[in-house]
Amino acid sequence: LQRQKPLVVANWKMNMSLEKALHFLNSVQSDPQDSTVVICPPYPLLYPVNIAMKKLQTGVQLGAQNVHWEDHGAHTGEVSVGMLQEVGCNFVLIGHSERRMAGESEEAIQHKVKQVLQSGMYPIVCVGENSEEFKQGLTSQIVKQQIEAALKNLPNISNIIIAYEPVWAIGTGQSATPYQAEGVHQTIRQSIHDLHGSIAHRIPILYGGSVHAENARSLAAYENIDGVLVGGASLEVKSFQSIIRSFN
Ligand code: G3P
Repeated sequence: LQRQKPLVVANWKMNMSLEKALHFLNSVQSDPQDSTVVICPPYPLLYPVNIAMKKLQTGVQLGAQNVHWEDHGAHTGEVSVGMLQEVGCNFVLIGHSERRMAGESEEAIQHKVKQVLQSGMYPIVCVGENSEEFKQGLTSQIVKQQIEAALKNLPNISNIIIAYEPVWAIGTGQSATPYQAEGVHQTIRQSIHDLHGSIAHRIPILYGGSVHAENARSLAAYENIDGVLVGGASLEVKSFQSIIRSFN
């Protein structure tokens, strides 16, 4: 994945029905020359969405919202990397703040990143401070610590994608300013550099948190904002398509 090509990722979270998803795919269009567009539906929709994507030639790629780090076994309710690949996934979100809040540990996140990298898929590792930490001026410290926990001891990070999502900006309509986001992205790139050297310059860093049609273009203008991770505004074709256009 080249950093030069913007990445626009939809995280549908626990939303969408099969019918709505198929309708969405009928209308969304992406030109892989201009940007890489990824949709992360809930697990049960992965298979039918993959079939529809291929049939309709939407140019859109498929991602999952989570994965387990073991290959197989007695893990009720979990899904493995191999299962995701079998239904056409190339990308996996890891460590989303909603999962961290539900108890996902940094250790689990590290296992997952390792497993996804080994499979050849692209892990999208989510980091970001909560509103208390933001108010206390701890943003840099928190993201550095999360990056270090997720990326240490990895032999090859060339397929990694980072998403910076300040928790206070998620679903609140209150996005970080592009300038604020650019500053944090620089800090993240520096932390990756400290751990893994110059490959840090090739790692895409996405911004997420109340991205919508109106602020996407100004985010796209910043050097270290290589794309976006979109929640609410990815549920309607019109707003998602306009975000895609902002990055072309
Ligand atoms: O993963 C994307 C998400 O957390 C951002 O959500 O609704 O603020 O775009 P939203």
